[in-house]
This record gives sequence, structure tokens and C-alpha cells, in this order.
Amino acid sequence: MASADNYDIKDASLAEAGRQRIEWAAREMPVVKIIRERFAREKPLKGIRVAGCLHITTETANLGLALKEGGADLVLCASNPLSTQDDVAAALVEYGIPTSAIKGENEKTYYKHINTALAHKPQLTIDDGADLVTTLHTKRSELIGEVIGGTEETTTGVIRLRSLEKEGKLKYPIIAVNDAQTKYLFDNRYGTGQSTIDGITRATNVLWAGKKVVICGYGWCGRGVAMRAKGLGSHVIVIEVEPVRALEAAMDGFQVMPLLEAVKQADIVITLTGDKHIIDEAHIQAMTHCAIMANSGHFNAEINIPALEKMSDGKREIRPFVDEYAMKDGRRLYLLGEGRLINLAAAEGHPASVMDMSFANQALCLEYMVKNREKLELKVYSVPREIDRQIAALKLNSMGIKIDTLTPEQEKYLTSWQEGT
Ligand SMILES: NC(=O)c1ccc[n+]([C@@H]2O[C@H](COP(=O)([O-])OP(=O)(O)OC[C@H]3O[C@@H](n4cnc5c(N)ncnc54)[C@H](O)[C@@H]3O)[C@@H](O)[C@H]2O)c1
Repeated sequence: MASADNYDIKDASLAEAGRQRIEWAAREMPVVKIIRERFAREKPLKGIRVAGCLHITTETANLGLALKEGGADLVLCASNPLSTQDDVAAALVEYGIPTSAIKGENEKTYYKHINTALAHKPQLTIDDGADLVTTLHTKRSELIGEVIGGTEETTTGVIRLRSLEKEGKLKYPIIAVNDAQTKYLFDNRYGTGQSTIDGITRATNVLWAGKKVVICGYGWCGRGVAMRAKGLGSHVIVIEVEPVRALEAAMDGFQVMPLLEAVKQADIVITLTGDKHIIDEAHIQAMTHCAIMANSGHFNAEINIPALEKMSDGKREIRPFVDEYAMKDGRRLYLLGEGRLINLAAAEGHPASVMDMSFANQALCLEYMVKNREKLELKVYSVPREIDRQIAALKLNSMGIKIDTLTPEQEKYLTSWQEGT
């Protein structure tokens, strides 16, 4: 239950608006709905304390409601200082899910909120970027004894947790939800693809047609944004460090070159690598007058913002989520959403239809962890294949799409070696 000391939101009076938007998102989340209905009957998470560090959006609210129906004793906090939808946070508290999240919170409040969630003494954790799990492993390790397991939503979080595992310091099992095919093929590619363009458009109202758009990183997110920018008529240049991915980008019809060359012609530069200082001092120095920078990777470390600050004489917020930097050499450069994931800072994040699959994975993986708690080791696990396939089948069904199945003859053929030419 929400009590004054286990939640912190901006404004409780926004709850009704949040409730309506949560309902609207639910229309596009049929798989989570099916899981929610089964959870309501079977209560697989009965009495289990769960802490979720997630972007506080309408889709997260629908996941939260499904977990609550499943019997979970759930609290939530933000996984990014700028991604919270304050009306949703207010509605969640009304639904009885204590939530600590305020859009625009500073780093101190961000970590205070994570600690409020940890004070719930979670037995299951849900993370997006691994800040909750890292805090639990470093500053609140006395709480780890009670944890059954956790899930991780995004690429950057999985990288951090695999590195924790490699150092032998991971103290409870984690399922890497990001690595499910029904997650990254759709959420990272089509979700980030559409919502990153949406965030930049809402912040700037730019016309994409004819613009030179530089996409840094041709992973699942980068290729989604490149595909959508191309569809809108932009000239897209891709930056990569992995030869195979760079080759894919070239054969997908994009120009590929080093960033230092690309920034000399770029109108918009977007980072989606999960790496640090992609746009560094030298790139900022070479950028054209009026260039726009945005990040849609997990952390704002992708852009060297301290260098940008140092190289400028000052900044002003010329529109919401658009900071204009007056550079010492007279150029003007623009940074969107303080370099934080622009799709969540300036727009609403991924459309509900893709989060339906990501969050179906979350719900089913939490159930799996509880059922298999005795068997799981201190590892980062992939999502069980049967969960992935089940979600794809449910999603297809909800879209009214039927597919063929193998005949017994084909099944035999595909598992044998005797038949040849
Ligand atoms: N905005 C969102 O809502 C959202 C959604 C999903 C994932 N993410 C985040 O986006 C980031 C990318 O995720 P992904 O799934 O595409 O990861 P990915 O691993 O599939 O792709 C990242 C790509 O960036 C490339 N890269 C790394 N360093 C580079 C450099 N210096 N220059 C050029 N390219 C470089 C890598 O080679 C790789 O191909 C992660 O931080 C992830 O957590 C954000």
C-alpha cells in the first residue's frame, strides 16, 4: 500500500489524466492483458515483494497492474531522471502501487528514489539500465540475502550485469529480457526507431526530408532509427566500429564513414551505441553551425556534455528540451533533452504495441524465476526459448495472423541427415 514514506510523485491531482492514458495504452497491449487475466486466477507472485526500476510510462503501469493482479507486492521507481510521466506516477499511487519518480528529478533525488524502492526489501528486482541492481550490490548489499532473482530490460543493463557476473560479483540470478527475440527485434528496432524520430520531431519540429542525419551505432536501435529517417527522406550516414555491422549498413544502402568526417556535413547527429563519449570534443569542434545533437542510448554519457559546456560561452533553453549552446567561435549548436534518451524525454517512449512484448517477457520471466528459484545459479540467463515463442504466438494471434505449421514429414526431414540430392 502507498503510505507517505514509500512514494514520491509530483502531483497527485494528475491521477485521472494518467489513468485515462494507461487505459489507452492497454488497448495496444493484448499479450500483457492475457497474462494479467491468467495471473489474476493463478496468483503466481502471491505475497512476493517486487521493486521495479523502470521508465514510469503508461506501458510500465500496465505491467505493474498485471504483476499486482498476480499477487506481487510491488513498488516502482524511475530508471531515468527525465523519462517519468508524472500523471502515470500519480495514477500508479492511486492504484496502490507506491511509485517514486518525478520528471526532471536531479541525480540526488533519482538515487533517493532508488533507495526508497530498495527499502521495500525486494525479493524480485526489475531493472532498466542496472542502476537498482548496482546500488543493491554496492551500497545496500545487506538486503541481497532475500532476493530470489531479477530481470534486466535493456542492452546497457545487460552489459553491466554480464560484467558483474564475469568478475564473480553477481549475487543473485538475472534474466536478460533484452536478449529475447520478441524484445530486441521489435522494441529496440521498431520502438526506438519510431519513438526517437518522434522525440526529436516534438522537440524541434524539423523537417526530416532532405536533412543529413548521422546515426552512431548500427545495432538494433540504430538500424531502426536509420530505417525510419530514410523513410522520411533524410540522407542517412551510419557510424560503426564493428566491421560486420558497418558492412550491413553499407549494403542496406547507407553511407558509412568515420564520425569526424560525418559531422562536417551533419544537420542532426543521433547516438545509440550504449558507449561513452561517441560525440567527443573533436567532433563538437568540427560540427557545422546549427547542428542538432540527440542521444537515444541508455545514458547521456554518449555525448561529452562537460566538453560541450566548456567549449561554449553559455546556453539558453530556446524551446522545451532544446538547449542552444553559443560556441566560443560563434557557431550555435543544439543539444536535445540534456542528452538523455530523447524518445522518453521529449516524447512518450515506445508505442504500447512493442512494449506489450517486452513487458510480457518481464512478467513471464518473473514467474519463471519464482517457479525455478531452487535451480537458478548466480548467472545472467537468457530468456527461455519457450517464453519467447509463446509471446510471438500470442502477439500474432492478437494481430489476427495465422501461420503454417510443419508437417510430420517436414519435421522428420529437418532433423535427419540421410536424405540428400
Ligand atoms: N531509447 C530507448 O528507448 C532504448 C531502447 C532500447 C535500448 N536502448 C539503449 O540503446 C543503446 C543501444 O542499444 P542496442 O540494442 O542498439 O545495442 P547494440 O549492442 O545492438 O548496438 C550498439 C552498436 O553501437 C556500436 N558502437 C559501440 N561503440 C561505438 C562507437 N564508438 N562508434 C560507433 N558505433 C559504436 C556497436 O558496435 C553496436 O553495433 C543501449 O544503451 C540500450 O540500452 C534505448
